[in-house]
Amino acid sequence: MGNMGIIKAEHFTKYYPPPRKGTFGFVDLIKDLRKPRETLPALVDVNFEVKEGEIFGLLGPNGAGKTTFCKIMNALVIPTSGHIYIDGCESVKEHEKITREMVTIFGGEREMWGLFSWRVTVERNLKYIADLWKVPSDLIKKRIEYALQILDLEEKRKEWYQKLSAGMKQKVHLSLAFIVQPKIIVLDEPTIRLDVPSKRKVHDAIKKELCQNLGSTVLLTTHDMSEADKMCDRVAILNQRIEFIDKPENIKELSKEHEILELKLKNLDPKIKRGLEPFTIRTEEVYEDGIYKMKIFFEDKEKNLPEILGVLRDSRIEDIKMRTSSLEDAFIYLINRGKKHA
Ligand SMILES: Nc1ncnc2c1ncn2[C@@H]1O[C@H](COP(=O)(O)OP(=O)(O)OP(=O)(O)O)[C@@H](O)[C@H]1O
Ligand SMILES: [Mg+2]
Repeated sequence: MGNMGIIKAEHFTKYYPPPRKGTFGFVDLIKDLRKPRETLPALVDVNFEVKEGEIFGLLGPNGAGKTTFCKIMNALVIPTSGHIYIDGCESVKEHEKITREMVTIFGGEREMWGLFSWRVTVERNLKYIADLWKVPSDLIKKRIEYALQILDLEEKRKEWYQKLSAGMKQKVHLSLAFIVQPKIIVLDEPTIRLDVPSKRKVHDAIKKELCQNLGSTVLLTTHDMSEADKMCDRVAILNQRIEFIDKPENIKELSKEHEILELKLKNLDPKIKRGLEPFTIRTEEVYEDGIYKMKIFFEDKEKNLPEILGVLRDSRIEDIKMRTSSLEDAFIYLINRGKKHA
């Protein structure tokens, strides 16, 4: 059982309708209504499988489609084509079958479900949630205590939900997972509003309590490479398409420290580019206002730098900077790599 895909995305695509603008009169409105619907790609041909008991990360920049994916898992948004299967059920057509087995917590945006009452205490809110998910009544009290303790909310139990800070509210939302203890947990940017100690605590709790102790499967989204690294068994780099799926350590391997030379050049002819090839890992360039902005990634400063500068002799260098690459460079590289192929 352990290796079965409990979440499966199959050729999954979502296009959103374009924004309606410039509709001032009847004629404009008709024209607008005739425009093709669903033309803005948010997710394109997404395929992946999450195994039972795994923490799987969807890592992508703003607008990559992470929240869209989580919404479609909950039938809040309808896909243009393709399917997501959750525990064998199609996420949209059969979503009622999975609502009790799955909990989704949206961290990046306002609490989407309207589950929490503002002028009611934290404790009372949690009791309501336990009832809603039909947690057995003899377990309710225990689970609420467990959640309050794990998320450091014990002192806030008698506070009105309304009076909590944004980060505390987010922790209350996260307690849902610990109270319901469902088979599948979807977390959309779970730590986005949390401070560093709370983040650490939530990371540990998800990993130890939810996955190791309770055997839940977690799909989490983040734009934070180090969060993905710390939390996930496997990570998919998402930017409309899935660019890459692997274990975090293999992604880090890709970002192994190397040197980066950032240049502004007046001349960049094919001969220079060919000349650089033997000494570089890769290069990136854009042409703007008569200037080539170029990044050269290479490995060995002592050996390769003189060679590179030699090749660049005729390139009329306007500006030159050197730095060491970071994990972020690897992330940017991976999300851009796909765009170039498209
Ligand atoms: N309701 C909508 N109507 C039209 N376009 C939308 C809608 N919701 C999202 N989009 C577009 O779909 C794309 C993906 O958005 P989504 O919210 O899924 O990204 P995200 O990865 O969650 O980003 P973030 O990191 O900012 O939360 C964006 O280009 C966004 O503008
Ligand atoms: Mg989002």
